[in-house]
Amino acid sequence: MKLRSGGRRLGCVFARRCLALVLCGILGAEALDNGLARTPTMGWLHWERFMCNVDCQEEPDSCISEQLFMQMADVMVSDGWKEAGYEYVCIDDCWMAPQRDSSGRLQADPQRFPGGIERLASYVHSKGLKLGIYADVGNQTCAGFPGSFGYYDIDAQTFADWGVDLLKFDGCHCDSIKHLVKGYKYMSLALNRTGRSIVYSCEWPLYTWPFHKPNYTKIRQYCNHWRNFADVYDSWESVKSILDWTSSNQEKIINAAGPGGWNDPDMLVIGNFGLSWDQQVTQMALWAIMAAPLLMSNDLRHISLQAKTLLQDKDVIAINQDPLGKQGYCLRKEGNIEVWQRPLSNLAWAVAVRNLKEIGGPLSYTIAIASLGQGVACNPGCFVTQLLPEKMKLGFYGWTSNIRTRVNPTGTVLLRLEQRIYTTPETIIHIL
Ligand code: GLA
Repeated sequence: MKLRSGGRRLGCVFARRCLALVLCGILGAEALDNGLARTPTMGWLHWERFMCNVDCQEEPDSCISEQLFMQMADVMVSDGWKEAGYEYVCIDDCWMAPQRDSSGRLQADPQRFPGGIERLASYVHSKGLKLGIYADVGNQTCAGFPGSFGYYDIDAQTFADWGVDLLKFDGCHCDSIKHLVKGYKYMSLALNRTGRSIVYSCEWPLYTWPFHKPNYTKIRQYCNHWRNFADVYDSWESVKSILDWTSSNQEKIINAAGPGGWNDPDMLVIGNFGLSWDQQVTQMALWAIMAAPLLMSNDLRHISLQAKTLLQDKDVIAINQDPLGKQGYCLRKEGNIEVWQRPLSNLAWAVAVRNLKEIGGPLSYTIAIASLGQGVACNPGCFVTQLLPEKMKLGFYGWTSNIRTRVNPTGTVLLRLEQRIYTTPETIIHIL
């Protein structure tokens, strides 16, 4: 389902309001009580890159088949993805046979998944990884395969029997919003009743927005993460629209995020065709600030070293996975610059400076530390490291000092601020 941003390019909501929300530490509600997703889920999901390619004759290496997921699992282990924290290998739409079996159970397409999902799950588990699968709350999946309506208990049990570890539950082909809401809740309880630990990834708010503002308090009680906005595409236009939607709606959504439940701005498309280097940096930096699930959709068998290094950057991943679990927000928009920030554990903060311009060269932007707000790490002083686009220690800064940045068009500079008391003479440089 596609939601439009309505052409609106709203800037960030002014700092104080957001900051107050964050500092109060309000979590709208209890998280889904399944003990999962205490930090945002990390893994790989086939949809954006491989879509609904079912033609294994013509395209054996990129059709939706067990081979694709086995190869991806192999590479995740051999090329450092697992070590970097990417754990879930996730199947999206188009894995199913067109009909349920005679007992009403979903079945995988027998040609493309000759060993069935159970064997695939064992394979993925043997690599120390987890397997995700996809189904739909309505009568059909978005691509027209059997939906789970009327079969929630059977499907939850089938997934548990197969050894599935995550369910992405889509919201296409639902008769009514009432049915959608009931279905999302029912499936959450059905998964819990199986006794297996299954991360529950919802699209409930995305399908609710056209009717009314979603009840995020409820959604958090039932889902481990939830999609709010349109599908990501391999384009700057798409990534930009997701960021614009998020900053425009942040007051409605950021309080809902926290250990156990996260806003999901959709897949990382880094390593594909549509984003420049600076735009890939922006996606990685902002997904870290937003405490977003990091589900890559790319071809890990053929990926540039540059994209791999970005996706595996441990300092950026540490921001994304920060145990405090507070989602960052857009602090201000000033001309062509947006400043985002996220509070981290141990009184640290992440700050991202985005250059919105799509013309010209790098923009210089100076952040007055005091303008980041009282709660920020730099009172009386902090140590600042630039993490992206390159890692650089910038040194000690005092409360009244400024950080100078230079940001490429459509790019982002990501900083980490750690609270420190300055003691040595060289630190004075940035303090005066
Ligand atoms: C919807 C979802 C996508 C993807 C497709 C599959 O559009 O939002 O993420 O799962 O369905 O058909």
